[in-house]
Amino acid sequence: MAATEDHSTTDAPRSAYYVTTPIYYVNDRPHLGHAYTTVAGDVLTRWHRQRGENVWYLTGTDEHGQKIMRTAEANGVTPQEWCDKLVEEAWKPLWQHLDIANDDFIRTTQQRHTDRVQEFVQDLHDKGEIYKGGYSGPYCVGCEEYKLPNELLPGATEDEKLCPIHKRPVEWLEEENYFFRLSAYGPKLLEFYAANPDFIAPATARNEVLRFVEQGLQDLSISRSTFNWGVPLPWDEKHVLYVWVDALQNYITAAGYGADPERFAELWPASVHLVGKDILRFHAVIWPAMLMAAGLPLPKRVVANGWLMVGGEKMSKSNLTGIAPTDLTSHFGVDAYRYYFLRAIPFGTDGSFSWEDFTARYTSELANDFGNLASRVAAMVGKYYGGTLPAATAAGAAEQAVVDGLAKAAAEADRKIGEELDFAGGIAAVFDFVKLVNGYLTEQEPWKVAKTAFGEGGSAAGSEEGQARLATILYTAAEALRATAVLLNPVMPATSAKLWDSLGAEESLGALADQTIATVADWGRLPAGATVTKGDILFPRLEEKPAS
Ligand code: MSP
Repeated sequence: MAATEDHSTTDAPRSAYYVTTPIYYVNDRPHLGHAYTTVAGDVLTRWHRQRGENVWYLTGTDEHGQKIMRTAEANGVTPQEWCDKLVEEAWKPLWQHLDIANDDFIRTTQQRHTDRVQEFVQDLHDKGEIYKGGYSGPYCVGCEEYKLPNELLPGATEDEKLCPIHKRPVEWLEEENYFFRLSAYGPKLLEFYAANPDFIAPATARNEVLRFVEQGLQDLSISRSTFNWGVPLPWDEKHVLYVWVDALQNYITAAGYGADPERFAELWPASVHLVGKDILRFHAVIWPAMLMAAGLPLPKRVVANGWLMVGGEKMSKSNLTGIAPTDLTSHFGVDAYRYYFLRAIPFGTDGSFSWEDFTARYTSELANDFGNLASRVAAMVGKYYGGTLPAATAAGAAEQAVVDGLAKAAAEADRKIGEELDFAGGIAAVFDFVKLVNGYLTEQEPWKVAKTAFGEGGSAAGSEEGQARLATILYTAAEALRATAVLLNPVMPATSAKLWDSLGAEESLGALADQTIATVADWGRLPAGATVTKGDILFPRLEEKPAS
């Protein structure tokens, strides 16, 4: 099941499962929309780590460009001061709070990045891929992108035109700048997409890119000379590099491009670039063309997620719910937060948040189905066996159905989360299994079997057959929870750790992080004799919703 490649016969470094998030603009604090992609990447990489693979997870911040410069000016500080403050006070702390296990955090103002970027563009310049020209056109500072006239929306006056994403007026820019010969790469890109049908997902995103490239590409303006907050072009320091060209290269500079060849061979090409659908063209068209021009391998996949919406619009700085990620985590807890967005919104489609929906899922799926199962099983092992897990000596068809249900859930979750990035489907598969175990307990009625096992009121006059059944039922439920803890660990690591603890699993099986997906469905791993304790309630009853 765990499809790790075996590189043991070669001297090449073991290639990594390398996942990236977009690097976020630090003109503002992180909101629910940013956290959505970062949590998804975290679950994906934790899943692959749980398969025992060599994994690298990168996130970071995009710190150059006009948007950041103007924000800093408006706040009376230098752009660098602004970025330093936001990164340290807002972005890094949020990722830590959300239990994001990134291996690196790249900032585009770091010298490890700017040096490599200069080398990269110099190389393209030397190869004749960059030339000097002029451009004029409508520019959206929000997108940091020239727009095509036919994409714009009408504004308040006849001359005013609005960005279709930001709904704010675009500015007319006229500059002499350097251009990258993007137009030359259209046919090569189309050939590449055809040969690599999984390169862009989901299918809607792939189709959009194909249509766009088929129309023919224009060369890309890659420098600015009207402001200086960017990476200077090494051959003409009056220009700074267009922020997107600098930003895209974060994926290779963080991987050791030009600095650490061995590491670069291990990490590059990236396995998955996670991106929002608004930045798909940059990742699926411009970035691959730049890599082709540089003679570097292309990333294996670009996967676009949908948007979190507010009132039918993309949630953004100017259009927030007024709810910060921490408002939700303080009410529902971090793990429920990580769970909710991935479970509720099919990855790749737009979705919206509501307190009502979150509360309903928290109560029925997390607290009732999952949390109660864990506490009931621990309570019964405590009550009937003094907390020592009994052996299953009388397993039959009902138990086999649980064993089979686990095998199915594990295989399905592995395929859906690990390969298809269908987080909602994969989590649902695990929760179907949790439901199956609940149904099993409801049918087997261990509390009734206990009466025959030990006699009414706990007298000694019990039946051996009853005792064997009771032991078997409780073992089966506890073993099912052992597997559930492993399967949910990538999604809800703190909860899974509590469950692992309450099952006394560490003593015989070792750390939760060392359990692999390949062995999760091997029935009977949790040994009889494990010390089961009640532990904390996994999902406590919610307080009243805070006043909005
Ligand atoms: N800096 C660029 C990315 C450079 S990557 C080389 C950028 N930054 S951003 O901060 O504006 O957006 C970063 C990501 O957040 C994008 O993938 C964008 O789609 C995502 N989101 C921003 N708002 C979002 C929602 N409301 N919902 C889901 N994702 C959203 O673009």
